[in-house]
Amino acid sequence: MTSAPMPEFPAGFRWGVSTSAYQIEGAVTAGDRGPSIWDTFAHSPGRIVDGSTGDEACDHYHRYAEDVGLLAGLGVSAYRLSIAWPRVQPTGTGPANAAGLDFYDRLVDALLAAGVDPVATLFHWDLPQALEDAGGWLNRDTAHRFAEYADLVAARLGDRVKLWITLNEPFVHMSLGHGTGAHAPGRVLLFDAFPVAHHQLLGHGLAVSALRARSTSPVAIANNYSPVRLAGDSDADRAAGAAYDALHNRLFTDPLLGLGYPEEPGFDPAVVRAGDLDVIAAPIDVLGVNYYNPTGIRAPSGEDSPLPFEMVPLEGYPRTAFDWPVVPDGLRELLVQLHRRYGDALPPIQVTESGCAYDDAPDADGRVPDPDRIAYLDGHLRAVHEAMTAGVPVTGYFVWSLLDNWEWAEGFTKRFGLVHVDYATQRRTPKSSYAWFRDLVRR
Ligand code: BGC
Repeated sequence: MTSAPMPEFPAGFRWGVSTSAYQIEGAVTAGDRGPSIWDTFAHSPGRIVDGSTGDEACDHYHRYAEDVGLLAGLGVSAYRLSIAWPRVQPTGTGPANAAGLDFYDRLVDALLAAGVDPVATLFHWDLPQALEDAGGWLNRDTAHRFAEYADLVAARLGDRVKLWITLNEPFVHMSLGHGTGAHAPGRVLLFDAFPVAHHQLLGHGLAVSALRARSTSPVAIANNYSPVRLAGDSDADRAAGAAYDALHNRLFTDPLLGLGYPEEPGFDPAVVRAGDLDVIAAPIDVLGVNYYNPTGIRAPSGEDSPLPFEMVPLEGYPRTAFDWPVVPDGLRELLVQLHRRYGDALPPIQVTESGCAYDDAPDADGRVPDPDRIAYLDGHLRAVHEAMTAGVPVTGYFVWSLLDNWEWAEGFTKRFGLVHVDYATQRRTPKSSYAWFRDLVRR
């Protein structure tokens, strides 16, 4: 970590932290919440490394006032939460469940009273199980159900939520949830998962107009991006890199910005109907960028490989507890690449997730030192600043995450928080990165 002072960010830059509903809320039956695909998945033996579920998670549903206090103490100007669709519509259709919306109503008011802007993601992977039973995102109808749900949420919260995010990382939900099956709903379709991409994007576009009809707040989507690092320089490696780039970085952005689907990954476009691309290209106000690391790619080694690329570990970098390489410059590279690629069509960017997992634990004095996280955030913020200096319009940065939480298939084994959570007692202890980020935000 360099000792040079952190360069200044412009006034009005949005400083925030992010979480998502299933990872922190717990209380999975409270207020008539219905089951989601993650409840089903987590309760299926062998799916989660430590056999845990999100049944209790951080019990944020009951402890939200304490967590809003932590946000106030951190001094952030925004908090990115997600709304659990199965709280609002327990079976994914029909009228709003008042008790579900009441929870978010209380949370949003508590945030505003603490001087923190609520930023709400509508879908962070917790699809109502009843919709999955009807085909989930493979079924075009789910896109229409999503817009209906967006309308119900905006009717209640549209006067107070300051930024809407329709979907979180539709790429990850497609690839891990429906391509490899590592995430809920656990389908293994590889390239046959393309309808999940299209129907999520269609749902996004339909939701944009539902939100606009109820709320004057800006609308965004949060995409996951990973710049490609080629492991070789043969033509085959370059073609593999282009295919991976199209899949991970362009599939969910080209059509949003009016360019249609990229050709490289070779998806069957049969599910795309006339007019869909116009719905998907409805203008957005902000592009949310979630970044963790670049991806090493080379040409597939076998001729019968099911994929047109092969992933290779990136060597020579420090690694997080997830074994992910720490490459701050990848964030600069990514932001510059987005700017170059899309030019004037690119809306202002907010980095909606950036963070790292380490095995943080309280020391003998009860403090939780996490110097690696401080170095990680320091490096990534400098990278954002460099991109801004190079002309990329970035207007905010959200740390993933406020709290240690339930990390999907990794259960409770990966800690991403600025605040340590003892899951046995639900005791929250701010780590040293919390104080570091607070001091940075203050400045
Ligand atoms: C997701 C988060 C997740 C984080 C770390 C992102 O892909 O949006 O829910 O916890 O990465 O894996």
